[in-house]
Amino acid sequence: MTNANRTVQFKIYRYDPDQDAKPHMQDISVELESTDRKLLDAMVKLKAQDDSISFRRSCREGVCGSDAMNINGKNGLACLTAMDSFPEGKPIVLRPLPGLPVIRDLIVDMTQFFKQYNSIKPYLINNDPPPERERLQSPEDREELDGLYECILCACCTASCPVNQNKETEAYVGPAALVRAFRYLFDSRDEGAEERIALLDKKDGAWGCQTLWKCTEVCPKEIPITKQIGQIKRRIYESKP
Ligand code: SF4
Ligand code: FES
Repeated sequence: MTNANRTVQFKIYRYDPDQDAKPHMQDISVELESTDRKLLDAMVKLKAQDDSISFRRSCREGVCGSDAMNINGKNGLACLTAMDSFPEGKPIVLRPLPGLPVIRDLIVDMTQFFKQYNSIKPYLINNDPPPERERLQSPEDREELDGLYECILCACCTASCPVNQNKETEAYVGPAALVRAFRYLFDSRDEGAEERIALLDKKDGAWGCQTLWKCTEVCPKEIPITKQIGQIKRRIYESKP
C-alpha cells in the first residue's frame, strides 16, 4: 500500500462490556494523506471521525508500549507499523491483544500481565549499603546488558504465547516477565540470582516455555526472547549441585 492520498478500509473490534451484549466488528474507512505513514496516524484520523473508538497511545515512537494490538492477526505496535506494509485493497483488521480481558474496544486490562511481571522481582537486588552516588559497573559489564534492557512492556509477546493462552497452563509467568528476569540475572550489580532462580525454577516459571518462538516473532524491539528463556533454563540447570 503506497503512502499517496488514499482511502483505507478498516475492520475494528468494538466492545463496551458495560453496554454491549457481545463484541462486533465495525467497518469504517478513512481518507489518508501521504504524511500518514504509520498505522497510528491513520487511527488518530479514525478517532477524529468516530470518537467512540477507544485505544491507548502515548509516545508515537515505540517507547511507551501502550498501543500494542492485534494487527491483521499479528500483535504489534500501531506507531511502528508502516501503512505501506499492508496489502492494497484489503481492509486492515484491528483487534485487542488476545487473551487479555477487554476494557473497551482495543484497550485491554493489563493487571494479570503486571502481576506476572512483578512475580519475578523485576528490580535490582543488592543488599550492600547504597554508595553515595549510583552503583557503578564496568563498561564491559554494562555492554553485557545490551539486548536485555530494551523491553518496553508492551505485552505483544505474552499475548502471542500459546502456553499463556491455554487455560491449563495460564499460570505460566510468560515471556515478558522472563525477559526481565534474564536482564537481572546477567547484571553484575545484582545479588538476587539465587532467589530469582528459585522463582523461575518451576513448571509455571521458565520451564513453562515450550520453545514455540511466537513471542520472538512479534517483539517490536527484536529481543531474542526464546533464546533468552533458553539461557535462563541453562542458568537454572547450572545452579544445581
Ligand atoms: Fe514487548 Fe518485546 Fe518486551 Fe515482550 S519482550 S513486552 S514483545 S518489548
Ligand atoms: Fe508508545 Fe506506540 S505509542 S509505543
